[in-house]
Amino acid sequence: MTKSKIGGIAYYVPERAVTNHDLEKVMDTSDEWIQERTGIVERRYGVKHKETTSTMGARAAEKAIERAGISKEEVDFIIFATLSPDYYFPGCGVLLQRELGITKTEIGALDVRNQCSGFIYGLSIADQFVKSGMYKNVLLVGAEMHSMGLDFSTQGRNVTVIFGDGAGAAVIQPTEEEGEGILTTKLHSDGTYAEKLAFINPGSHGGYHFDKMGEEVDFGFSDAEFGEIFMNQHMVENGQIYPNMEGQHVFKMAVQKFPQVIMEALGAVGMATTDIDMLIPHQANLRISKFVQKVLKLQDDQVWNNIQKFGNTTAASVPIALCEAVEAGAVKKGDLVCLAAFGSGFTWGSALIRW
Ligand code: COA
Repeated sequence: MTKSKIGGIAYYVPERAVTNHDLEKVMDTSDEWIQERTGIVERRYGVKHKETTSTMGARAAEKAIERAGISKEEVDFIIFATLSPDYYFPGCGVLLQRELGITKTEIGALDVRNQCSGFIYGLSIADQFVKSGMYKNVLLVGAEMHSMGLDFSTQGRNVTVIFGDGAGAAVIQPTEEEGEGILTTKLHSDGTYAEKLAFINPGSHGGYHFDKMGEEVDFGFSDAEFGEIFMNQHMVENGQIYPNMEGQHVFKMAVQKFPQVIMEALGAVGMATTDIDMLIPHQANLRISKFVQKVLKLQDDQVWNNIQKFGNTTAASVPIALCEAVEAGAVKKGDLVCLAAFGSGFTWGSALIRW
């Protein structure tokens, strides 16, 4: 039976490294606080007015296409995962297609809005397309340019210090080789706590949303302040045009869902944690990754972490980490690789790949 595999993988991160000490200059934070709570030492920021989410995605994609041994004209579908798109619409998929110069083939481009688990959702979609025979070369990109949409005042410090810019790309192709390829993917979501980690404005909500208990979600506006508009002065003046996060809530959910979804994938193919050669967790927070490692009883050399130098790059973090591990020789042919992610939505997922 035809399976799919990652035929080529690459990443791109902007040159400019921003250290915790750099952030200390613009907000009330400290290197010690950031390292202790998140593990992050520095992150990369793209060049304003020169780089965007889709152009960074394109740089990673060009390399992934080359490594997959195909020409860009042979790509027959694009999937682009991001929470920090160039535009509200259209999505980054078509912008990437234009940036790569492959508009003549008029292939389809799909945008995935599943935040930190966007790459795994995209991988699962690509896997289905390739297995079914519909497409042969699906280009999957996860990219983020967070630095253009963060609050650099002290008010935004709990979120801003965590995120960085970057892009990862993979070409998903068919394989007939025994044992090789994507063995399973598992996807989940629960919208009950959608606003606990969210970028709410601008949006069409107009203040309207209720949580599971029927309680109105508090957006911090009076009716008069909302008006009928998508975006208003109040939102700008009160910093409500930035992402917000209830960190502890996210932490508690993440440490439950990561192990659950990894065990689910292993169970589906009759394997155990002892079979994992390399776990590539979404780089949410080093403390979350360490917690998951401990629960699964994995050794340090079985879990790839690079949040220390790149921060949390959301949809880009899994492909960046996977590519780095492959380039470092830490993932070799025949290894069992487990990808897992959890993030805003909440959405989460896992994938098992025989490399
Ligand atoms: N620098 C210094 N102090 C900060 C800070 C920063 N960057 N951000 C928040 N603080 C302060 C808070 O204001 C608070 O101060 P107070 O006690 O005077 O009120 C204090 O630190 C503790 O805040 P709290 O939010 O309770 O900290 P925490 O221990 O929960 O750590 C996170 C915050 C965000 C690091 C932590 O909750 C976390 O890792 N959550 C998961 C986040 C995550 O992984 N997100 C990505 C999901 S994909």
